[in-house]
Amino acid sequence: MRLFVTPAAAPLRGELSPPGDKSISHRALIFSGLAEGQSRIEGLLESGDTNATRRAMEQLGARFERAGDALLATGIGSDGLQAPDGVLDMGNSGTAMRLLAGVLAGQPFTSVLSGDASLNSRPMGRIIRPLEQMGARIEAETGGRAPLRIQGSDALHGIDYESPVASAQVKSCVLLAGLFARGRSSVSEPRLSRDHTERMLPHFGVTLESGPALDGGQALRGAPVTVPADPSSAAFLAAAALLVPGSDVLLHGVGLNPTRDAFFRVVRAMGGRLDILDRRESGGEPVGDLRVRHSPDLVGVDVPGEWIPAMIDEVPILLALAARAHGVTRIREAEELRVKESDRIAVMARGLSAMGVDLTEYPDGIDVTGGDSSHAVVASSHDHRCAMSFAVLGLVSEGGVTIEGAEYIDTSYPGFRADLAGLGAELRTEGS
Ligand code: S3P
Repeated sequence: MRLFVTPAAAPLRGELSPPGDKSISHRALIFSGLAEGQSRIEGLLESGDTNATRRAMEQLGARFERAGDALLATGIGSDGLQAPDGVLDMGNSGTAMRLLAGVLAGQPFTSVLSGDASLNSRPMGRIIRPLEQMGARIEAETGGRAPLRIQGSDALHGIDYESPVASAQVKSCVLLAGLFARGRSSVSEPRLSRDHTERMLPHFGVTLESGPALDGGQALRGAPVTVPADPSSAAFLAAAALLVPGSDVLLHGVGLNPTRDAFFRVVRAMGGRLDILDRRESGGEPVGDLRVRHSPDLVGVDVPGEWIPAMIDEVPILLALAARAHGVTRIREAEELRVKESDRIAVMARGLSAMGVDLTEYPDGIDVTGGDSSHAVVASSHDHRCAMSFAVLGLVSEGGVTIEGAEYIDTSYPGFRADLAGLGAELRTEGS
């Protein structure tokens, strides 16, 4: 699908709730599916990625049904998982594959996890290593890529795992496998990655100690879940409001977990008019409403390396902002971006250069010098966040932008076009 974005002819105005948090939605589906009893999930994201997790949990025996705006989950119970009747298709979702691999490693049956071309080219060695240390056997393609054939075991043993990367997917994978293992499992990581698993497991009745660490053999009990709006999706709308002259937008109920909020901190350091109103707690997560206004005097910043894990998914949209800020924005210590849904440093560098943006690529980051930008045809490269970042920059680029492969936006934000159009932007699509 091609997406044509026209330069904004009017300010973006209005208020809306961005879609449910993708990370929290995956966990809500997996934990409620593993729990004994029922769970009511409010605010769940329904998108390509979370649908993959839901379908996989159904293949393992969980049931989900609509109840008005909520989803009602009937869990299988930790020892009730059934062997899937075919390959578990994880689509484009790294979170689905890595978290479910942890669950499946602890089952007394074999399962196969596969995905699309993007997912099957991403590194899985980072989860294969700890799961094999715990006693699972996993066959992968060359270089530790999916499809993964997981020969699970009901005799896994707990480990103290020192993860070489700050990755919530690795951490959650080991903790989930640890639930099915004998003894205790713990994970340490070089920098704290998002902590949604640690926050949500206790809500389902699991005793978790700091580390994080847990004892195997604990059962999950069904629990109500409220999913906040996704800060990673809100970031695109916020950036659009910062860039388009005269804009004033209010975003309701956005997740502000400190392991996720660094993009908003950087925006403020750049001089962005972003106010956080009514900070509160919802479903065990801090949330707030964001008022974002046009900010003509954004300045480039050096992003602190220690902030990167808390904004790893927002770097592409930050680069779009940097392209219009005064001076240079420098990102380093962000080599993880090269193994996301695409090599995000390379894909953003290619697309932004085509749009006339001045930049220098580094192995672990990029420097972007702000200035003018103009129309180009750019490729999503199977990457929803790159596609949406180009779309936002297109709103203020001469002649707009054309994005090839825009269907990938649906992996995390199927309502993106409608939400931007509701605020006053003009977007048009062609093909499917
Ligand atoms: C996620 C963790 C992050 C993030 C991804 C979602 C999660 O990946 O980029 O979009 O839900 O755990 P890593 O854990 O690989 O950093």
